[in-house]
Amino acid sequence: MKLELSHLLPFAALVSASPIKAPSIHAPSHLFARQDLQTPINGTLPNVTIFSTGGTIASQGTSNTQTVGYSVGLGVQQLVDAVPEILNISNIVGYQVSNVGSPSINETILLELARGINSELAKDEVSGAVVTHGTDSMEETAFFLQSVINSTKPVVVVGAMRPATALSADGPLNLLQAVTLASSDNAKDRGVMITLNDRIGSAYYTTKNNANSLDTFYSTEAGQLGFFINQVPYFYFEPAKPIGATYFDLKNITDLAQVDILYAHQDMAPELFNASVEAGAEGLVTAGMGAGGLSSKASMAAEAVYNATGIPIVASHRSADGFVPSSDDSYAIASGFYNPQKARILLQLALTMGYDYDEIKELFALSYPAP
Ligand SMILES: *[C@@H]1O[C@H](CO)[C@@H](O)[C@H](O)[C@H]1NC(C)=O
Ligand SMILES: *[C@@H]1O[C@H](CO)[C@@H](O)[C@H](O)[C@H]1NC(C)=O
Ligand SMILES: *[C@@H]1O[C@H](CO)[C@@H](O)[C@H](O)[C@H]1NC(C)=O
Ligand SMILES: *[C@@H]1O[C@H](CO)[C@@H](O)[C@H](O)[C@H]1NC(C)=O
Ligand SMILES: *[C@@H]1O[C@H](CO)[C@@H](O)[C@H](O)[C@H]1NC(C)=O
Ligand SMILES: *[C@@H]1O[C@H](CO)[C@@H](O)[C@H](O)[C@H]1NC(C)=O
Ligand SMILES: *[C@@H]1O[C@H](CO)[C@@H](O)[C@H](O)[C@H]1NC(C)=O
Ligand SMILES: *[C@@H]1O[C@H](CO)[C@@H](O)[C@H](O)[C@H]1NC(C)=O
Repeated sequence: MKLELSHLLPFAALVSASPIKAPSIHAPSHLFARQDLQTPINGTLPNVTIFSTGGTIASQGTSNTQTVGYSVGLGVQQLVDAVPEILNISNIVGYQVSNVGSPSINETILLELARGINSELAKDEVSGAVVTHGTDSMEETAFFLQSVINSTKPVVVVGAMRPATALSADGPLNLLQAVTLASSDNAKDRGVMITLNDRIGSAYYTTKNNANSLDTFYSTEAGQLGFFINQVPYFYFEPAKPIGATYFDLKNITDLAQVDILYAHQDMAPELFNASVEAGAEGLVTAGMGAGGLSSKASMAAEAVYNATGIPIVASHRSADGFVPSSDDSYAIASGFYNPQKARILLQLALTMGYDYDEIKELFALSYPAP
């Protein structure tokens, strides 16, 4: 039996039951149009700008029990409509940057996001920014934003593990918490944060640990920054920025350097290193075994590529957590604490800004300063 979608949409139900009028956000005509707000602004409230990129938080299934295989499609207007409580916390302005699943977030979207957020946060009246995003590559976008936003104001990346149509969808509460965090004075000077499932984590170390579970975002070793209790954010620490966090000014940048990740395993094909370079990679990251290990054949192939081209090869780890130490007699640059997907973003930024091999090595070493 095909169910009527309107019966399944908690968003739609919430809107009609809403005691207050949600802001009207016009459909965007092109990437990044500022959306018009039609509700009166409450001048005593903070102002938060939401940048919507798509993802599960903006997705609908065909039934309220479907939690995989749904499709992206809800706009920033519908996200906000679903949670009228947000308008008691903050005035909202929305930008629809894209409407894609996060595997399809690309450099165009990242650069537009960085520019949009920097320009919103430069306005005195804006307290913070929220990015709604798919969870699959959320940590990459969050790490990228941490590296390219020059502001003490909170930037919060948020998503959902269940589509909007699911029984106990997590998107609405996550969004309310994200806006609360972005408008909170207490959240300043903490870098870019990821919040889902009541937890507040640093963009630097938070990673997606489970492909399906709600409680998937955390950082085993570095821990959480804070937690929501009754929708109030509580922090465990004073504000601090992650060690090694470096700011890159992307003002004049139109594209990012191509960096590929090669996943190590038993009998890894050594040809992959050449193939990546032939396909245009300007840098490589290996998801190595243990603390960055490759088979001797793969290691020889990587070294030969380095000898022939001089492109930086960063050794990271395929284990969920851990550290790859630096070695003076290796062609490879140690990733330190950065997992492969974060190491890739950092290497992209460094190459884009014209860093040479030694500068890149120093950049990675900043995350583990000598005691
Ligand atoms: C504006 O926000 C303040 C603070 O939450 C609240 O006390 C006040 O009632 C709001 N005003 C209107 C007109 O909603
Ligand atoms: C929010 O924006 C409104 C309208 O621009 C402004 O009057 C108000 O002061 C801003 N709120 C804060 C806390 O800056
Ligand atoms: C917003 O706050 C007012 C005043 O406290 C309250 O009456 C109203 O129910 C709140 N609206 C929502 C959607 O929480
Ligand atoms: C990135 O994705 C957006 C939205 O799908 C698209 O408009 C843009 O052309 C893409 N950019 C590249 C470089 O593929
Ligand atoms: C970052 O922002 C601060 C405060 O607005 C400004 O003084 C500083 O020059 C900016 N840094 C860079 C590298 O643009
Ligand atoms: C960007 O380009 C403009 C114009 O060429 C130049 O004045 C400015 O210094 C550049 N900014 C950066 C950060 O490279
Ligand atoms: C990589 O390419 C170089 C130069 O074309 C070649 O000599 C070498 O055998 C290739 N290595 C592998 C593992 O394919
Ligand atoms: C790479 O170059 C170094 C230094 O010249 C050399 O010792 C090493 O054998 C070369 N490695 C490969 C795989 O060609």
